Amino acid sequence: MSDQKRTTTDAGIPVSSQENSLSVGPDGPIVLHDHYLMEQMAAFNREMIPDRQPHAKGSGAFGHFEVTEDVSQYTRAKFLQKGVKTEVVARFSTVAGESGSPDTWRDPRGFSVKFYTEDGNFDLVGNNTPVFFVRDPMKFQHFIHSQKRRADNGLRDHDMQWDFWTLAPESAHQVAWLMGDRGIPKTWRHMNGYSSHTYMWVNDKSERFWVKYHFKTDQGIECLTQEEAVKMDGVDPDYHRRDLFNSIKKGDCPSWTLHMQIMPFEDAKTYRINPFDLTKVWPHSDYPLIKVGKLTLDRNPTDFHSEIEQAAFEPNNSVPGTGFSPDKMLLARVISYADAHRARLGVNYKQIPVNSPKSEVNSYAKGGAMRIRKTSDPVYAPNSKGGPVAQEDTYPEDAVWQADGEFVRAAYTLRPEDDDFSQANDLVNKVMDDAARDRLVSNVVGHVLADVEEPVLSRVFEYWKNIDATIGQRIEDGVRAQKS
Ligand code: NDP
Ligand code: HEM
Repeated sequence: MSDQKRTTTDAGIPVSSQENSLSVGPDGPIVLHDHYLMEQMAAFNREMIPDRQPHAKGSGAFGHFEVTEDVSQYTRAKFLQKGVKTEVVARFSTVAGESGSPDTWRDPRGFSVKFYTEDGNFDLVGNNTPVFFVRDPMKFQHFIHSQKRRADNGLRDHDMQWDFWTLAPESAHQVAWLMGDRGIPKTWRHMNGYSSHTYMWVNDKSERFWVKYHFKTDQGIECLTQEEAVKMDGVDPDYHRRDLFNSIKKGDCPSWTLHMQIMPFEDAKTYRINPFDLTKVWPHSDYPLIKVGKLTLDRNPTDFHSEIEQAAFEPNNSVPGTGFSPDKMLLARVISYADAHRARLGVNYKQIPVNSPKSEVNSYAKGGAMRIRKTSDPVYAPNSKGGPVAQEDTYPEDAVWQADGEFVRAAYTLRPEDDDFSQANDLVNKVMDDAARDRLVSNVVGHVLADVEEPVLSRVFEYWKNIDATIGQRIEDGVRAQKS
């Protein structure tokens, strides 16, 4: 017998053969009580779990976040105090594709980070873009449907994508961003991550601030052109997953510097744009970036399924010193993700090691499929039996804001400078140079030519002319020239 470990069943029982099933003589039928064969077939049949609905294709790694600056005047969150180092797991993803789809499709990228803080898990579930396509959660499901596959032929369809976008003009800023260079990052290491939403920070005097998180890549921004990406789709559909894994494996560990935009609580009431509208940025000239610390990824997963596929990121994971905001998209996300995890992973998903906090858990949760953590008495509150007691000062009850009014189904009240196209115009004209604008026009023309038909086609030209008359005309000319 060699030094190799002996195979066992999942019950730990030594197995006598991995070659032959138990049969009635060498040529006879297999017998039903070969439970080891049955165990292998049954486990195999249940290996796959449902994809995440959006953001199915991705990967991730472990690492840490270290606070290098003093931001205690803005937040009392323990993991955001200078010098504190917190373990993290991060996951990057595309939005529309299934778990086997190419990494280099033009699409926003997810940028999720779970911080295992001493006050429980804090999750930032952001994207590589500072804005989003819609500003009301009622539209999110429809938006995602339009980016994925048709009902009839199961195909992705640019006509469907532009039909939705042009009927949702608030998408213009995000679409202009997506069709530009940063719509296809070279690797996940070469892109920024943004909370996109406005969140809240609260300091030890219960003073509140509205904040946006910006993780700026320390590797520098690099992107693929449309042509490079299309080629890579065929050469290596897992290019981004492979790049992250191999970089960390060879010790070239990626990092991002966290900067914040911080708005005093009262400013929000009079700011010229709605600071909670997810389709807009806060211009840096109004709220400059304030440096906070560094996120580094330096450890690869050793079991993709249990550590990455079963990772459950959820914007509701917020710790004392942090909080939410009146952004309606964010408020919907605060209830959507935990529901998705219960459906995808089961009610006790927080006990899967990658999702378990490293801090003590003293909840009254009990039972449910696959429960591993032992429940102890008392199982109810209030009790006089020494069970855990909620303490007002430990829950972020001070991360609040005022709201008053009738229940209505209505869009945000417009501020003086709120409109759907100005910031998209700034991006195209003030941020992009001539060469970037040429690539933008070429990307849109190619995307539209694929399969966009009337009446959507004319609306595409109108949409771009609303962003910028010249760019819109160039797109129309480019499409018409090749269609005729
Ligand atoms: P600034 O000139 O201060 O900043 C421009 C921003 O644009 C930088 O964050 C830069 O990121 C980013 N950027 C550069 N090239 C591209 C590109 N091709 N696609 C997308 N982003 C790019 O401008 P403002 O703050 O006044 O914002 C102007 C416009 O810049 C906005 O309308 C928005 O579209 C875009 N932008 C703004 C951000 C913000 O939070 N204010 C964040 C990202 C984009 P980097 O520094 O990493 O190179
Ligand atoms: C994944 C819902 C908007 C970033 C998901 C998932 C759902 C969801 C159900 C799958 C979760 C899972 O199964 O693990 C929603 C809803 C939204 C919304 C209802 C709006 C109302 C956004 C926005 C962002 C975002 C605005 C970025 C700012 C992500 C990311 C993931 C994700 C990064 C993947 C998380 C991971 O890596 O596991 N979303 N989403 N989503 N979403 Fe959203």
